[in-house]
Parts: sequence; structure tokens; C-alpha cells
Amino acid sequence: MTVEHRRRHLLNISDLTPEDVYRILDTARALERSLDREVKKLPTLRGRLVLNLFYESSTRTLSSFELAAKRLSADTMTLRASGSSVDKGESLRDTASTLAAYDPDVIVIRHPHIGAAHLVAEATEALVVNAGDGKHQHPTQALLDLFTIREALGRLDDLRVAIVGDFLHSRVARSLVEGLVLVGATPLVVGPPTLVPRGIAELGCEVSHRIEAIAEADVVYVLRMQQERMDAAYVPSLREYTTLYGITPERVRDGQVVMHPGPMNRGVEIDPRVVDSGASLITSQVRAGLVVRMAVLYDLLTAPGLHVAMPVLEVA
Ligand code: NCD
Repeated sequence: MTVEHRRRHLLNISDLTPEDVYRILDTARALERSLDREVKKLPTLRGRLVLNLFYESSTRTLSSFELAAKRLSADTMTLRASGSSVDKGESLRDTASTLAAYDPDVIVIRHPHIGAAHLVAEATEALVVNAGDGKHQHPTQALLDLFTIREALGRLDDLRVAIVGDFLHSRVARSLVEGLVLVGATPLVVGPPTLVPRGIAELGCEVSHRIEAIAEADVVYVLRMQQERMDAAYVPSLREYTTLYGITPERVRDGQVVMHPGPMNRGVEIDPRVVDSGASLITSQVRAGLVVRMAVLYDLLTAPGLHVAMPVLEVA
């Protein structure tokens, strides 16, 4: 297989096959072991350049991509919308061409507009990772969520995952539903009719407007109420939303695990007692963000045939 043949971006979760997903999750697992060592840096991507281009605020995604690249010994550069030509109105295409002069191996981009990552992929030679484009896709979040579920519950297929809340504005939810379907799990979307887009059952999920439906799920995945993306009143009030759909200890049954991509509105979509309970996998999700993004960079920049020979996989 030639290198050219393997060249691929990660723009949508549907760019991946189930085999790709499991390979990335297995690599992440091996990398996680490397984090237990005293020296946490691996030489794997020495001399490579990973450029983070963030047009929207981010805590977890940006910090984990930066650290992931550093832990693999790549050089990193981060450009945020403020403080660069970006806030002077330079077009995304011009910014991408300018940065291409540094010959980056990977560009990680977050942008408020759907299709921004695709545009950068067309405009540069770099491999592009979509770190969120509007309300469209956030594939590395879906991968880290799948990783977290698999590590906690031991499998992905045959699981029911209830995704609760503001699906309409959520790139996380869209990518997660597609990712779950890819690995044979059953997504169940639960929320008020105004926040659950018509026609999403076509993605392969079940839909319910009753919060009681979450009782059947193995995993309860709580979505943030994304008020910054709401251009109208989608719920009568946040208080009413909380009463009808907020995830409280009473609504979580024994044996269920609870997840949230962050940032959380404690007391709105999720009760702080649930966040801090034994059922919560939220901290595991953050830890997974680092190793899964390391695995994604590793997967993009190294040939599959080399996997067994890479030092990282000898850590075990
Ligand atoms: C999400 C995002 O930005 O899409 N956050 C994240 O990446 N962890 C979810 C959100 O903003 O609600």
C-alpha cells in the first residue's frame, strides 16, 4: 500500500470503518499504558508539525490535542481566532494557504461553520482533523466517547445508549449516533420535540420524547443545553427543561453509567449529585480525550503495517 493511497483526513466519523474505529481504540489503549510511565513522551512523531486552528472557544479539545501532539514528540503551533489575522477578517482559505507555507503534517480545526474542515482539507496538503464544525461533526469526541464506554463496560456492540437533550445544536450527538451505529450499538435519542430534529431516525437511532425511556439504556449520555447556538426559544424555560429532562439521581437506575462531553451546566441538564456519583464517567472521558487524540494523530501519520513495530505498542 502506498503512502498516497492511505492519505486520509478525519472530517466525519463516517470516514471510518468499524475496523478503523477498533484499531484507533486499541492504539489508544496501548498509549494509555505509556502514560503510567515516569517519562511520558514517546518519540513516534518527532519532526512532524501539528497545527491547531481554533475559531471557537475550547478547553478540553484544544488542550488535549496540544498535549497529544507533544506526548508523541511532534512540534505544535496553536492559532486562536483572537490575536491573529483571523479576527481581522482574513478568509479561512487565505489563512489555510498562509499556514500551509510551514508545511504542517496535520491541521486540527474547530470552526463555527459547517464544512470548514472540508474547505481546509481542499486548500492544503496537510491531513485535516475536524475538531468541531458548527453543529455538524466532532469525530474525535465520538471516538473518545466510544473508548470510554468500551473501557467501562467491556464492549460496544449490543449496548443501548440514551442521548438526552439538545440534539438539534449538537455536533457531539450527531457524531456519536453515527459512531454507535458503526460499532453495532443502539442509540436512543431523548428530548423535547423542539430539540430533536425530525428525520434523525434515518441515522439509525430510536427517538423518544419521554425521559422515562432512559431506563432501558446501559449508558445515559447528557448533552449540554447549547444556548449560544439557540436563535429562538426552544424550551419554555431552562427550569422547565430541568424538571422534564434534567438527569437527577432519581432518574439514574442502578448499573447505568452517565456521560457528558463538557462543558456542563450543573443544575440544568445534569444534577451535580450525578456528576459526582460513582455512575459518572465524565472524568474518564477527559482522560480518554488525550489518549484517543494521540491515537488519531498516530493513526494518520504512521502506516498501519508499522503498528507492531512501533515502540509504543511494546510498552505492555
Ligand atoms: C463540545 C463541543 O464543543 O462541541 N465540547 C467538547 O468538545 N467537549 C460540546 C459542547 O460544546 O457542548
